[in-house]
Amino acid sequence: MDQQHSIRLGVNIDHVATLRQQRGTRYPDVLRAARLAVASGADLITVHLREDRRHIQDDDVYAIRRQLQAPLNLEMAATEEMLQIALQVRPDWVCLVPERREELTTEGGLNVHARQQELSSVCTRLAAAGIKLSLFIAADAQQIQAAAGIGASAIELHTGDYAGAAGSQCVAELQRLQQATSLASSLGLGVHAGHGLTLDNVGPVAALKEISELNIGHALIAEAVFCGLQRAIADMRAAMDLARANDHANKL
Ligand code: PXP
Repeated sequence: MDQQHSIRLGVNIDHVATLRQQRGTRYPDVLRAARLAVASGADLITVHLREDRRHIQDDDVYAIRRQLQAPLNLEMAATEEMLQIALQVRPDWVCLVPERREELTTEGGLNVHARQQELSSVCTRLAAAGIKLSLFIAADAQQIQAAAGIGASAIELHTGDYAGAAGSQCVAELQRLQQATSLASSLGLGVHAGHGLTLDNVGPVAALKEISELNIGHALIAEAVFCGLQRAIADMRAAMDLARANDHANKL
């Protein structure tokens, strides 16, 4: 991993694990996906260990940390259980996210302003273990100021509203992101962003100069179906045909 990109790509591989958990199989192999992501241009690997373990499992996190050299960004809720895991795994980054069990995906940002004391103590404990903290928040001045106040290294701006908007609303959301980005960097915070980013909407966000990292998952895994299905079917076809040819040869 000696490439240096001016904007880092964190590949979130949660939904490789979603496919595996949905059937209770051993495949698809999450570590293999992480290795392929790094070989294909990812600067870091992002996983979200959810409290309900719906996709990534504890063993995945430990295996990636142990067997992959690329930086690891562990997304998690600010709970004591998750904090203990983070302190054992020692990822490069922890990104604190809000979490509700009934949600389909992370909805909205963390209310740092309302939880300053609690999050400040999490930040101190992670920093003591050499782990950098980012906070997943909405593009909101009060939240950004609170994030700077508790000593986080970075914020991750929630791009879901931008991704879901169309027309003039989309332009307005982009402006909000731009203002938030400027404020955060003026306060000395690193600026990451993510959620809902796709090939079609990533450009304007990636162009914001102060953003140093994008974390992208769902759309990448979805697009991989189309990039990879042809090859997967051809390989299966070949394996079946080879088996028949060999069987035929054995009977001669
Ligand atoms: N960043 C954070 C903090 C997230 O919680 C998620 C979703 O897990 C993402 C980025 C990636 O979002 P998506 O899967 O929509 O690309």
